[in-house]
Order: sequence, then structure tokens, then C-alpha cells
Amino acid sequence: MPERLAEMLLDLWTPFIILWITLPPCIDTAPMNQSQVLMSGSPLELNRLSEEQRILNRSKRGWVWNQMFVLEEFSGPEPILVGRLHTDLDPGSKKIKYILSGDGAGTIFQINDVTGDIHAIKRLDREEKAEYTLTAQAVDWETNKPLEPPSEFIIKVQDINDNAPEFLNGPYHATVPEMSILGTSVTNVTATDADDPVYGNSAKLVYSILEGQPYFSIEPETAIIKTALPNMDREAKEEYLVVIQAKDMGGHSGGLSGTTTLTVTLTDVNDNPPKFAQSLYHFSVPEDVVLGTAIGRVKANDQDIGENAQSSYDIIDGDGTALFEITSDAQAQDGIIRLRKPLDFETKKSYTLKVEAANVHIDPRFSGRGPFKDTATVKIVVEDADEPPVFSSPTYLLEVHENAALNSVIGQVTARDPDITSSPIRFSIDRHTDLERQFNINADDGKITLATPLDRELSVWHNITIIATEIRNHSQISRVPVAIKVLDVNDNAPEFASEYEAFLCENGKPGQVIQTVSAMDKDDPKNGHYFLYSLLPEMVNNPNFTIKKNEDNSLSILAKHNGFNRQKQEVYLLPIIISDSGNPPLSSTSTLTIRVCGCSNDGVVQSCNVEAYVLPIGLSMGALIAILACIILLLVIVVLFVTLRRHKNEPLIIKDDEDVRENIIRYDDEGGGEEDTEAFDIATLQNPDGINGFLPPLFSLIFMVMHRTS
Ligand SMILES: *[C@@H]1O[C@H](CO)[C@@H](O)[C@H](O)[C@H]1NC(C)=O
Ligand SMILES: *[C@@H]1O[C@H](CO)[C@@H](O)[C@H](O)[C@H]1NC(C)=O
Ligand SMILES: *[C@@H]1O[C@H](CO)[C@@H](O)[C@H](O)[C@H]1NC(C)=O
Ligand SMILES: *[C@@H]1O[C@H](CO)[C@@H](O)[C@H](O)[C@H]1NC(C)=O
Ligand SMILES: *[C@@H]1O[C@H](CO)[C@@H](O)[C@H](O)[C@H]1NC(C)=O
Ligand SMILES: *[C@@H]1O[C@H](CO)[C@@H](O)[C@H](O)[C@H]1NC(C)=O
Repeated sequence: MPERLAEMLLDLWTPFIILWITLPPCIDTAPMNQSQVLMSGSPLELNRLSEEQRILNRSKRGWVWNQMFVLEEFSGPEPILVGRLHTDLDPGSKKIKYILSGDGAGTIFQINDVTGDIHAIKRLDREEKAEYTLTAQAVDWETNKPLEPPSEFIIKVQDINDNAPEFLNGPYHATVPEMSILGTSVTNVTATDADDPVYGNSAKLVYSILEGQPYFSIEPETAIIKTALPNMDREAKEEYLVVIQAKDMGGHSGGLSGTTTLTVTLTDVNDNPPKFAQSLYHFSVPEDVVLGTAIGRVKANDQDIGENAQSSYDIIDGDGTALFEITSDAQAQDGIIRLRKPLDFETKKSYTLKVEAANVHIDPRFSGRGPFKDTATVKIVVEDADEPPVFSSPTYLLEVHENAALNSVIGQVTARDPDITSSPIRFSIDRHTDLERQFNINADDGKITLATPLDRELSVWHNITIIATEIRNHSQISRVPVAIKVLDVNDNAPEFASEYEAFLCENGKPGQVIQTVSAMDKDDPKNGHYFLYSLLPEMVNNPNFTIKKNEDNSLSILAKHNGFNRQKQEVYLLPIIISDSGNPPLSSTSTLTIRVCGCSNDGVVQSCNVEAYVLPIGLSMGALIAILACIILLLVIVVLFVTLRRHKNEPLIIKDDEDVRENIIRYDDEGGGEEDTEAFDIATLQNPDGINGFLPPLFSLIFMVMHRTS
């Protein structure tokens, strides 16, 4: 098979142009060795070449026959010979001329048309253009007629190591946690080399560290940078500068190199415990400081940073644990001691606290190094402050009976100056809270006395404010609220709850309830009201009425018999004694007025009018005759008047009647009450039958007049 290919190649090339390639003298790499073989231009040599080709094919890089090579960056005094074109046509008969065309023909590459020598007349750069495609042809010298078809070939520019490695992304920054184990990977860097990566070692890079040892190492091939020392301490040195070199030619001498810098920063881990700057802190605080006030700050330093330096502060012991608290200030990383409960210089003048600072974020890897906490002692001295008087109680509640005597002592407030120089106190009443000057206070002993009489029924509470003032400094003032409650005393007698008006039906049965009354009492006994009702002693055996107490503290008045008659007695007065259950009890007599009225069968009061028909008793016969005469006279006048009006066709009476009816209708519409019935008795007008109910208004009027005159 290889033989066959070689034959094919020979078949293809031998009739035409044979390439004769010169090579630069300085190249000693393997492919160049092959070119040396090609230097022989005879067909015989080519047979041998086919054998070489077979060997070459096995190597990484293909070797093509129609290629020539020229070294880049060559600059000699003479143009460099790239190769020679040669045809094996019989040159005897005709003169042959070689023609070159294609990339750079004539400008970069020149051909000697007689000898077929190709020269590069310019300096070439592989990194700019790696190969040129050209066409060669043999023509007749005279006729310029092509003697054979044109053949294409390539001139390759051969690489020399003219580019140094470059770190395109440098300078680099990387971080690695402090205290990392040896060989912890930090980062990797990459350099690039513009030279031919496939051909030769011009782009074969090897990395090394120029600066930064013994802390870091680099893997020569992969450029992975690792820690070369264990347990590097950030707190000792945080930043390292590493200089890295990349060298081509596999690192051999003569290669080109490039360098870059890598800054490695160690990141923090919590490998340091907090430590109080002082083991003893002293603070002082006035006793009257407001609760929550910061008294002082303690700080435990931590060489770590960020959250690894965070500590929480606690009070773990001491005699002031109940009075003080400590809060952690995450920003300032210190602890603030604050007051939680009021201080009293006179009770205790100093406190000792044991405070602890403990790291919040513990790294379990280092917890074996001991506790990540520290303690310190805090001494707090309480300073005396000039304090206002203090009352024995924050509020007072006093109770006094409403009948308490004037100037009697209701109660007492006490206050003292808490300071060592205990000043005497004077008391006074804030008059804004006692505008009526109901009370007085003894300025020395705080006893409150009654200045004006009390009345619970007027005001139950008297809430006043008492002021205590230090005699030595009138600016030292305290106030205390005193609520004085007035207690009830039975000083009001019960009475009817309202003005009752009772009616008694003439046709009522014995035992009928005429009226139910209830009583009220302005006092407010503890167990509620309980009233006792009774008739006057001389009326206990009243033949007409009796009373009966109901469960709900009210009283029913009952008629004892029937047959009450308006004409006999129109109104009965029934005095009733009401007593309360006080100690001593109080009582009053209220009189109930009972009117006798005419009622319907179902007991609805219809008329209590008595003047309508009652003839005054004891009128003399003469008087009666006089009255009758008057009536007759009036009748005559009326009759005369009527007849006179009739003559004028004006029915006056009928009109009057109409007026009356109008009155009735209007009255009904408005639904008048009892007061109205007195002025205008509707029952009298409405009842059509009998003298009992009905009399024309004119007669009513006459009778009323008579009654009045008598
Ligand atoms: C290349 O040629 C040189 C001598 O010219 C020789 O020493 C070397 O072994 C040859 N290399 C190969 C790969 O044939
Ligand atoms: C050379 O290699 C090519 C492709 O790899 C193959 O086609 C050819 O047959 C090989 N020639 C010889 C002489 O081995
Ligand atoms: C080098 O680092 C890059 C990213 O920074 C990573 O993708 C690459 O795998 C690393 N190379 C090696 C050899 O570790
Ligand atoms: C009196 O008390 C006031 C208020 O506490 C204080 O400011 C002042 O200094 C005191 N005066 C004297 C003489 O102690
Ligand atoms: C007075 O004080 C008492 C007890 O604090 C309270 O119940 C009452 O409502 C107060 N009265 C007035 C008028 O402020
Ligand atoms: C009882 O009624 C009669 C007449 O109806 C009267 O005369 C008498 O005075 C009344 N008695 C009392 C105690 O009211």
C-alpha cells in the first residue's frame, strides 16, 4: 500500500515539475530533517522519498509533496532561497521558462524564470500569515505556450520562537482562607503564546514562581497555585505577592518568558477568642439616673474580623445582676451596661458584676484551642443625688362618712426625704384639685381634715393632689394623688317616687287595687333599699282603705268596700308613712289623694266631675226661688233672642250647636289629657242618656255659676 501511493505520487509529479527545496541552515527540528532529504531533486531520490513519506505519515504532522517551507523572520543580506522548480521535460529542443503566480508572487516571492529558483524577497511573519498558495507553470521560452498544465503548491512559513508567553488576564487576585492545610488550591493562571502551538516547543509553556515562596507553589504544567505552608495566619500577614513566570520552549534555556503578579489575600476564620482590654472596669452612676440609661461600655477585642470578631456580652455573676443588664452592640462590637431597676444610694453604694464576652460564630476546627470567651469585672459606684421627697404610698384612698364633723381628721399622708441629709417635709394641698377648699392639711404631719361639710348625694369622690416640699430646698417637690370617697349616711327620708293621683271607681268591688305607689330615697345603703309603709296610727283602722306591701318594695292601696259615691265624698286623702331601713331609720309621710270617679263596667274611669250635678247643700228656699227666677228670665231672653234671629232667618242656636260639635270633634282629634277634661268635660257632653251624663252646655254653665256664687 505505501508503495502504491508512492508510485501514484511519482506518476503525478515526475513528468512535470520537481520541487527542490532549500532549507534554512539553523533549523534542527525533526521535520527539517525530512526537508534535507527533499533537497535532492532527482527522480531516483524521489523513490527513496516515498519510503520516508510512509514513515512521516505516522508522525503527528502530515507532509505534503507540493509544499515548500520558508523560515519566518529571516533577514539576511541576500533574498532567501525557498526552493527550485524543475521540469523533467526534455530541455534540449526548446528553452523552458518558469512562471509563478498567486499569493505574493512577484512581491514576496520571486522566481528565476530560467533556473526556477524561488526566493523570498521580504521578511515573513508566521503569526501574520502562515502560508501562501502559488501556481507554477513551465512555458515555451519563445512562444510562451504552456508546455504542461499549471500546478499549485503552497509555501509555508515556518515558525521560529519569536513570541514570548503573555498573561492576558493579569495581574491576578485570589483569596484563600487562613489556616488552610498545605496544598490547598488557591487559583490557576494561564499564559498564552502566539507561536505555533503544534510545531515545535515555541508555545510549550512551563510555569514557575519567582517570588512568593515558600508560601505558595505552582504546578509547572497546569499553573495551579497552591499553598506551600500550612496554617498561614491572617492575623500575622494578610496579603502575599506572588510573581509567576511562564516560559516557552518547555522551560529550557533560550526560551522566552512572561511574568505576572498574583495577590493572594488570606480570608479570616475564627481562630482567635475575644479578649477584654481591661480585666477591671470602673463606672459610677448617680442614683437618680433614668432607667435604661447606658452606664458604661466594655469591649473585648478580637483579632479576627467581621462576624468572627462578633461577641455577645452577658452578666454572669455579681451582686447587681438584677439591677443591671448588658446589651451587645454588634456595630461597635462592645457591650453596653444599662440600668434596669432604680438605684438607691442610701441602700447600696456599689455593685460588682462579672461580665463575659463570647464569640457568636465559633469555628469547630478551633474550638479545641480553648473557650472562645473572656470575662472581666465591672465595679459600679452609686453616687448620691439630691432627691425629692418620697411618699409612703404612690396613691392614697381615703374614706369618710358624709356626716363627718368639720375639722375631723380624714386620713394622713407621710413622706420623707430619702437623702442622707434628710430634710423635714411640709405638706400642702394643690388647690387646683380642691377648688372648693373642702379639705385642709396639716403642713407638718400630713393629716387631712374636713373644712366644709360633705354631701355624698352631691359628690361621691373628691380627688385631690397633695404636695410634699423639702424645707431645705423648696425645689425638691413631690406630688401624690389622694382619692377621698364619701361614704353614705342615712340622711334622706324616703318619699313617693312621683306625684301620684289615684282614682276610685264608684262601681268598684271591695278589695280592688286603687293605686300602686313606690318610694325613693336619695341615700345609697350598702344592701339596697328596703321600705316600710304604714298608715297613720289613728288611721290604722281606716274603714275605707287598706294597704298591702308588694315584693318589689312598692305598695298597693286597696278599697275596703264598695259603694263609694262622688256625691257623698268626692276626694279622700290617705296619709302614708314611708320608712327606710337605715340605722337609725328615717321616715316621711306622704299623702295620697284619691278621687272618686264614675267608671264604665270594665273599670275605665269616665268622669270624676262632681260640680256637674251636685247641688250645693243648704241653699235657702228664697235663694232657690231667686235662682229659678233668674233661669226663667234667662230662658225668656234666650227665646226672645232666638225668635228675633228666626225673623232674620238666621238659626243661631243650630249654629251654636254646630260650634259645640266642632269643639267635640277637635277635642277627640287631639286626644286631650286629664287636665283638659277639667276645663271641658268631655264625658258630660258625650253621654247621651240621663241627667248623670248629659246637660246642654248652657245649663252646665248656669249650674257652675250658681255653685260659685253660693
Ligand atoms: C536530524 O538530523 C540530525 C543530523 O542532521 C540527526 O542528528 C538527527 O537524529 C536527525 N533527527 C531525526 C529525527 O531524524
Ligand atoms: C498517510 O496518511 C494519510 C491520511 O492519514 C493516508 O491516507 C495515507 O495512506 C498515508 N500514506 C502512507 C504512505 O502511509
Ligand atoms: C483554572 O481556573 C478556571 C476558572 O478560574 C477553571 O475553569 C479551570 O478548570 C482551572 N484549571 C485547572 C487546571 O484547574
Ligand atoms: C435644690 O433642688 C434643685 C432641684 O433638684 C437643684 O437643682 C438645686 O441645686 C437645689 N438647690 C440646693 C441649694 O441644693
Ligand atoms: C377619683 O378616684 C377614684 C379612684 O381612683 C376613681 O374611681 C374616680 O373615678 C375618681 N373620680 C373623679 C371624679 O376623678
Ligand atoms: C270613710 O268614708 C266615709 C264616707 O264614705 C267618711 O265619712 C269617713 O270619714 C271615712 N273615713 C276615713 C277614715 O276617711
